[in-house]
Amino acid sequence: MIVVETASDLRRALAPSRGKDRIALVPTMGCLHEGHASLIRKARGLADIVVVSIYVNPLQFGPGEDFDRYPRTFAADSAICEAEGADIIFHPASLYPDGGPKVTLTVQDLGDALCGAHRPGHFDGVVTVVNILFNIVQPDIAVFGEKDWQQLTIIRRMVADLQLPVEVIGAETVREPEGLAMSSRNRYLSDDERRQAQALSRTLRGMHTRVAAGIHDADELLAKAHAELTGAGIAPEYLEIRDAHDLQPLQILKQATAARAFVAARVGNARLIDNMSLYDNRPLGVRPPATETDNEPETKP
Ligand code: PAJ
Repeated sequence: MIVVETASDLRRALAPSRGKDRIALVPTMGCLHEGHASLIRKARGLADIVVVSIYVNPLQFGPGEDFDRYPRTFAADSAICEAEGADIIFHPASLYPDGGPKVTLTVQDLGDALCGAHRPGHFDGVVTVVNILFNIVQPDIAVFGEKDWQQLTIIRRMVADLQLPVEVIGAETVREPEGLAMSSRNRYLSDDERRQAQALSRTLRGMHTRVAAGIHDADELLAKAHAELTGAGIAPEYLEIRDAHDLQPLQILKQATAARAFVAARVGNARLIDNMSLYDNRPLGVRPPATETDNEPETKP
């Protein structure tokens, strides 16, 4: 494994592989954990050359967000990349000219909902840097996590709209044993906050269970879920059910639509997000007759 720090060095390192080897890119901001490792493993299984980029992209952080305190843990990150069989770490000091870029990409309405509504300009910063990384690496495939479902959806759309010759691969969310989605920002949590944060995935699982039990009305599902989060002392930034593909809000869950639940909340100093499919290509549950609905559905995993 080699570490390169400039775009020209990376292009040089990849030159012998062009047109010969299948190149995979795994873009990250470092502070790597098992979620990132699973992406690298997936890339390793699909490509000849695996490039992991590590760059805390200033363009996707808003004023007052955690750009300055985002953990920079290069030594540990590079050990993970090595262990997972990455070939190249791309670790640039900056990807922008002094004073910042004068030309950037803009996400249309897909970027207005969910995280985009609370982090103005965030997804413009994401697609701009991912586009730059695609231009430097020119990968055949790029692997992104479902943990950031809106990001994955927007990047798929960027690739389609801009006709980029890259195959985008999604990778399932990796969770702590108690269900908390792994995130670099989990480091900001105290032990108590970590326990409290488990309510996020528990609530999403509860929604999944209720859908399987035949509840298909989004308002009803969301009201229960809100109550669960509030009971855990969490006031969500958003809690929504949307179509998994176009991110449009859903009122009634129908068999033909892939519904997904999305949540974001601040726990202590960390802004955490999670999402879950509300059914897994199985038939939607059928609500039992009225007399049997008095009992709460099970919410165990
Ligand atoms: P970062 O938050 O470091 O995440 C890098 C990649 O790891 C993303 O594709 C993200 O979805 C994935 N990931 C994070 N936690 C995961 C988990 N628990 N399970 C599975 N995958 C997980 O996302 C970014 O960086 C940036 O926005 C980036 C795309 C690198 C652009 O700057």
